[in-house]
Amino acid sequence: MAQNDPDIVPEGVDLDHPNPARIYDWYLGGTTNWAIDREFGAKAVETFPMVRTLARVGREFLGRGVQHIANQGVTQFLDLGSGVPTVGNVHEIADSVNPDSRCVYVDNEPVAIAHSQVLLERQGDPTRHAALHGDLRKVDEIWENALDTGVLNPTQPMGLILSGVLYFFGPDDDPHGIVARYRDLLPSGSYILISHMTVDGVPEEGEIKREEVRKQYERSSSRLFVRSREEFTRFFDGFELVDPGVVWVPEWRPEERPSPATEEYRENPPASSAFAALGRKP
Ligand SMILES: C[S@@+](CC[C@H](N)C(=O)[O-])C[C@H]1O[C@@H](n2cnc3c(N)ncnc32)[C@H](O)[C@@H]1O
Repeated sequence: MAQNDPDIVPEGVDLDHPNPARIYDWYLGGTTNWAIDREFGAKAVETFPMVRTLARVGREFLGRGVQHIANQGVTQFLDLGSGVPTVGNVHEIADSVNPDSRCVYVDNEPVAIAHSQVLLERQGDPTRHAALHGDLRKVDEIWENALDTGVLNPTQPMGLILSGVLYFFGPDDDPHGIVARYRDLLPSGSYILISHMTVDGVPEEGEIKREEVRKQYERSSSRLFVRSREEFTRFFDGFELVDPGVVWVPEWRPEERPSPATEEYRENPPASSAFAALGRKP
């Protein structure tokens, strides 16, 4: 598939609105984005220059979290709102710990899924990897379709990934109800990984600018909903929080030598404006 070619647009791709998956890809330095996404991203960066490093820091937490889950012996992952494949994809991290790992990706953006499928065709194994187009809010349908791939075994612990996605859902979507349903479906010994934007305890300057970015997103095809520490923590009800519990994204088990992006927040972790945690189903 041609990338960045304004004349070649894959079927189902909406170029009338900037799209979060493609904007996020642009923040991370990827190439699966179009002019409308880049213009939107550039405006967000102008308002809030940290937005690109924040995307990187979030992605790095995802990597450390998946590695931790895989190190506990979990070999299968369901990544919801997986995005456009980019640096450190879940199946690659899982495979680096256990080469027999399994992974199903789900996203509601056709471009993200088309690219995931191309990547998996090139480097994946159809018995161990799949990418599905779907809306993660339709929990039972997603669960059924994910199991229908034959990639996941519902009797064995799983890692459920909700990285940087729940903030697209407002109260009408009942995000806590959605996550509760996934928690119920997961077998014992499973993990949930979540990262989520907040303004709770974020330095004021960051808070004001983030509010401007939030308003900009309102004009794209999605709105953003920040949540408090208490609201974030409730996503893990009934699960045991993995040490160090609910923390700022760069504080979740940082590597001995953090990347330049994570290092940038060492002095002021709340400036990362996002919480991170892992929970385990007893
Ligand atoms: C900010 S990106 C995060 C990508 C990846 N999880 C990460 O952390 O690097 C959010 C992704 O969630 C997807 N998304 C948003 N709403 C969704 C929904 N209702 N169902 C499935 N995916 C959704 C977007 O298309 C986008 O790819």
